[in-house]
Amino acid sequence: MIPDATGPRALRRPLVAGNWKMHGLSAEGAALAGRVTGVLADLFSARDRPVDVVLCPPFTGLQEVGRAVAGSGVFLGAQNVHWEDKGAFTGEISAPMLLDLGCEYVIIGHSERRQHFGETDASVRRRLAAAARHNLRPILCVGETWEEREAGRTVERVTAQLHGALEGLGRETAPTGLAVAYEPVWAIGTGRAARGTDAQEVAALIRRLLGDLLGPELAVRTRVLYGGSVKPDNIDEFAGQADIDGALVGGASLDAEAFGAIVRRFAR
Ligand code: PGA
Repeated sequence: MIPDATGPRALRRPLVAGNWKMHGLSAEGAALAGRVTGVLADLFSARDRPVDVVLCPPFTGLQEVGRAVAGSGVFLGAQNVHWEDKGAFTGEISAPMLLDLGCEYVIIGHSERRQHFGETDASVRRRLAAAARHNLRPILCVGETWEEREAGRTVERVTAQLHGALEGLGRETAPTGLAVAYEPVWAIGTGRAARGTDAQEVAALIRRLLGDLLGPELAVRTRVLYGGSVKPDNIDEFAGQADIDGALVGGASLDAEAFGAIVRRFAR
């Protein structure tokens, strides 16, 4: 249980999302989802969910994983969304298509998208706007590279990413249920997680910036997650921080027991 789930923190139900990346055929995804719902069954039998849990399989697994989590209280999420609803965009997937498969969440601007697929703050912003139009809850990813951290440019980078994504969206057009994941690029898939106190510093910065961009009410309600080599044995570092409301989990989310242990740490 989180010891300090009072004050502003009590306004935010924790959120733990599993980013399966490009892993698993649909039957394997369905089986993993079944194990996850099994491991968490007791948490979700209560009338009030103590934590929101989202599974983000590859697009090809959405349908089967959606079936596997139906009625369990676990949400379905995608790993990306295009900004138009339809059109000549070969290889892209739109928000209505994700809704059609039962998605409620979508990861936007993951560093692997930025690094390998040329995503920019401008494209991230358009994808966010599409999620907002369709009431898909975005998990917006931001974070600095190791070189940027070493050069003391973490604040500058995260500020630029958040402004680039949200500036001008305003409170009325802000996405419903926005979550922001602080994912230092150097911590992703490396086994080298950030220190809890460093992650808290950036999470607090993100909340301050959200206050400037979207207003204080939304800032206090927006969930800020940490991501990057999260494991059951380091999750305490992050779950105890005042501005960290959950986790975006890559590698460890492919193991139902490990993922379940991380989720439990945030359940309140
Ligand atoms: P990791 O990935 O947990 O494997 O470091 C996190 C992410 O990419 O969201």
